[in-house]
Amino acid sequence: MTIRFGIIGLGNRGYKYALRTIMTSKDCEIVMVCDALGKNFDLFPGIANTIDYHDVLDNHQVDAVFIATPDDTHAEIILAAVAQEKHILCEKPLEVSREKIAELQEVLKDYSKVFEVGYVLRYARSFQKVKELLVSGAIGEVKMINAIDHIQYGGYAYFHDWHRTRAKSTSLLLQKATHSLDIANWYIDSVPQDVVAFGRLSTMGKPGALKKFGHEVSPDLHCRICTISDTCEESIQNLAKEKRIQWSDQWPDSCVFNSEIDVDDQNSVMVQYENGVQLSYQLCLFGAYYKRAFQIFGSMGELTFDDVTNEIKVYHRLKDEVMIYQNNHEEIQMEPGDEEQLADFILAIQTGKEPISNLRSSTLASLLALDAQDSIDQHKMIKQSK
Ligand SMILES: NC(=O)c1ccc[n+]([C@@H]2O[C@H](COP(=O)([O-])OP(=O)(O)OC[C@H]3O[C@@H](n4cnc5c(N)ncnc54)[C@H](O)[C@@H]3O)[C@@H](O)[C@H]2O)c1
Repeated sequence: MTIRFGIIGLGNRGYKYALRTIMTSKDCEIVMVCDALGKNFDLFPGIANTIDYHDVLDNHQVDAVFIATPDDTHAEIILAAVAQEKHILCEKPLEVSREKIAELQEVLKDYSKVFEVGYVLRYARSFQKVKELLVSGAIGEVKMINAIDHIQYGGYAYFHDWHRTRAKSTSLLLQKATHSLDIANWYIDSVPQDVVAFGRLSTMGKPGALKKFGHEVSPDLHCRICTISDTCEESIQNLAKEKRIQWSDQWPDSCVFNSEIDVDDQNSVMVQYENGVQLSYQLCLFGAYYKRAFQIFGSMGELTFDDVTNEIKVYHRLKDEVMIYQNNHEEIQMEPGDEEQLADFILAIQTGKEPISNLRSSTLASLLALDAQDSIDQHKMIKQSK
């Protein structure tokens, strides 16, 4: 049976996932696309389009929806999709506030259709291999994890557009770090209990402007009209040149030094889980290079892994022995895990199995990021909400 998809949100993530993953799957067909601003309709010739997502949900040909709209719109669209009994694949995070997450938990707990959240790393081969090694006892019992996200495209991906204000994204812990926090939850296989975190806006926003210009920058300043965009290290044009990021003409270009920016660009989070495992995590959004790395300490050894080399090393504690696992699989045009995530969604529709990234796991990941932000804001340790 072909699964007929409606796509809601055709921005950076939506159009790519729709074109490269859903459209290329032999099990799926896209019957309608939607974007509130009418973006990228031209990439879907011959497919019905609309600027109102209700048209997608009212369309009886649509079996499943892929939701790739900004984070603070997820609950509204999910709830409307539930009312029309669609299978739902929604981008991460679940939502941006505790109230909306609680409402989703209530409505979705007995939902008869599939609900999956796009925590795509759970599906990526290297991350799955690490999970498999941990479950097999390769390092004994997991005791502690260090994890870090270095992001060299922070200015490019998070500080030129909607991600940069708490009103839209809540925090980059919820928007970006949530992937790694979710992976930590998965590897630790327990529920966060105590959370303490620190955060600062040190390089972008007003602190960056004061250092660079000696004064604040008007919220109306955009790279396209800025007189120094040729030389500014954070202008969209320069980022594209210097960091070989494929810049698109439509890319949002609000100045990364605007004073409206109120999310942190650096975070440290410590978590104690119910099973006693401890996590120490750092997010750096002005990194010199990209890397997501995990160092996992077990009772019998240590496992290290990063998603640039895709090399997993397992060190034995009592023997002079290192096992190396190398993932050489290359995704063509897709991101690691994209294809496998869709396959899990399809399998869940076909068999009724629970998706790997489900309501429970995505709730825990989203709440962990929210608790970490509360710890920063309230300067205290937070007992994790469940
Ligand atoms: N899993 C991943 O690797 C990954 C990567 C990037 C983004 N994301 C997630 O995907 C989602 C979208 O992010 P993005 O970077 O594509 O953002 P974006 O701003 O590039 O695109 C969002 C699109 O949604 C449209 N939109 C907004 N409100 C809408 C509505 N009510 N109805 C229909 N369309 C609407 C906008 O016009 C825009 O084109 C976010 O939740 C983000 O967290 C996930």
